[in-house]
Amino acid sequence: MPTFQTVRGMRDLLNEEAETLTYIISKAREIAVLYGYKEVITPVVEPFELLSAKSGEEIRQRMFIFKDLGDRNVALRPEFTASIARLATTSLKNEPKPLRLFSVGSVYRYDEPQRGRYREFWQSNFELLGSSRPEADAEIVLLTNSLMETLGLQGYAFKIGHIGVIRGILSQENVDEKTQNAILQRMDKKEYEEAFKLAPSDKCRSMLEGLLQLKSDDCFETVEKIKSYVAGYEKAKAAAENLGDVLKLIVESGCPVETVEPAFARGLEYYTGMIFEVYIPQLDIALGGGGRYDRLIEVFGGESTPAVGDAHGIDRIALAMQMQKTILATKRGKRVLVLSVNDSLKVEALKVAQMLRDAGIIVEFEVMGRKMAKALEDADKRKVDYAVIVGERELKEGAVMLRNLAKREQTIVPIKELVEKIKS
Ligand code: HAM
Repeated sequence: MPTFQTVRGMRDLLNEEAETLTYIISKAREIAVLYGYKEVITPVVEPFELLSAKSGEEIRQRMFIFKDLGDRNVALRPEFTASIARLATTSLKNEPKPLRLFSVGSVYRYDEPQRGRYREFWQSNFELLGSSRPEADAEIVLLTNSLMETLGLQGYAFKIGHIGVIRGILSQENVDEKTQNAILQRMDKKEYEEAFKLAPSDKCRSMLEGLLQLKSDDCFETVEKIKSYVAGYEKAKAAAENLGDVLKLIVESGCPVETVEPAFARGLEYYTGMIFEVYIPQLDIALGGGGRYDRLIEVFGGESTPAVGDAHGIDRIALAMQMQKTILATKRGKRVLVLSVNDSLKVEALKVAQMLRDAGIIVEFEVMGRKMAKALEDADKRKVDYAVIVGERELKEGAVMLRNLAKREQTIVPIKELVEKIKS
C-alpha cells in the first residue's frame, strides 16, 4: 500500500495548531453566550439547490458537489447562512424575534490553496434574525470586535460599506439583477475595469467610477460625500443614510473602523445592506466578514424577515495570532501521571486517578506496562508535572507517593490531602 497524504487543500491540524483552533472556538462560543446567541448544529451536507440559491457565482463554482447514493444533488456547505435561512423557514419558523443563532464548524470551498486559504476551514457564524434596525447591524460588528479583542489581536480594523449604495444606482439605471450581480462580483475582486465595462450606459459607468474617488480619511466625511454624490438616486441615498446610522453606533461604541469604502462589494449575492470585513495590518485577507441580507429567508419561502450576520475565519484568526505571537490565555491545570508499582494495585491506582479527575485535575494513566523508571522519564519529557505512584506500603497507611517530576522530589501524601497538595 502507498502511504496516504491528505487531499490537496485539506490539512491535519496537530498540537498547537489544533489547540489554537479549539481555543478560538471556545472564545467565539463565550461571545455567543455573552450576546445571547443560541447554538444550532446543522448538517455539513445540504441540498445543492439550497446552498447555491443566493450565494453567488463565485461560491457556486467552488462548491464540493456530488450525488449521494439516493441520486440527490448535494454539496458540502461553503458557509452557514443558507442553512440558517433554511431553519428560519422550517423548524424555527414560529420562534419569536429577534432570533440570535450561533454555529461553528468546518466549511468547504474549492479555493486555490495558499496561506490563509484552504479548501476545508472553520467558521464561527452569528446570525441575528428579525430586526431591520441599525442597532442589529451594530451588534454583529460589535460582537466581532469583542471576539478580536478577547483574543488579544493587535491593530485589527474594520472596513465598512453598504451594498445598497451600488445596487441603488444600478437599479435606477435599469440594470437587471443578473448584470448587477456580475458587476458586484468583479468589484468584490477589485477588477474595476471589468466591472465597469458591464455598465449599460456611460452615465451608469461614470457613476460607478466616481464612487471609487469618494473615499476620505474620515469615515463620517466619506458617508457625507456618498450622500451628496448619490443625491439623485433615492434608494442609494437611503442606503448611505443607513450606513451613517450604523457607523455612528459602532464608532461611538469604541469599534476601530479604518475605512468606509463606497465601492465595497462582497462575494456573496444575498447582501442587501451594510457589509463589513475585519483585517489586521500583517495580513491582506479578511479575518471575518458579513452584512445585512433582508431577502434571503423570503427567497427560501419564509416570511419576509430582515436579517444580519457574519462569519469569522477561525483558521485565519489562528494564523493572525501566530503572526502576532499572541499568547493563548488558557489556564492549563497541573498534569499528573498515575501509575502503580505492580499489577495487583491497578484497581487502586485507577480509583486514585478517577478521584483526581473528579477534582478537575488532568490525569494520564500509565497504559504501556512500562517499568517505573521508564514511565517517569517519559512523563518528565512530556512536561507532566507530577507522578502519583500507588505502592503497597503507602496504601496500607491510606497514602501514595507524590513525585514532582521537574524538581525530582517525592513525598508521601495521604490520599485525602492529594488533591489539595497537587493544586497548591
Ligand atoms: P465570507 O466572507 O465568505 O462570509 O467568509 C467569512 C470568513 O471566512 C472570511 O472573512 C475568511 O476569514 C474565512 N474564509 C473564507 N474563505 C476561506 C478559505 N478558503 N480559507 C480560510 N478561510 C476562509 C460568509 O461566509 C458569510 N456566510 C458570512 C455571513 C453570515 N454573512 C451573513 N451572515
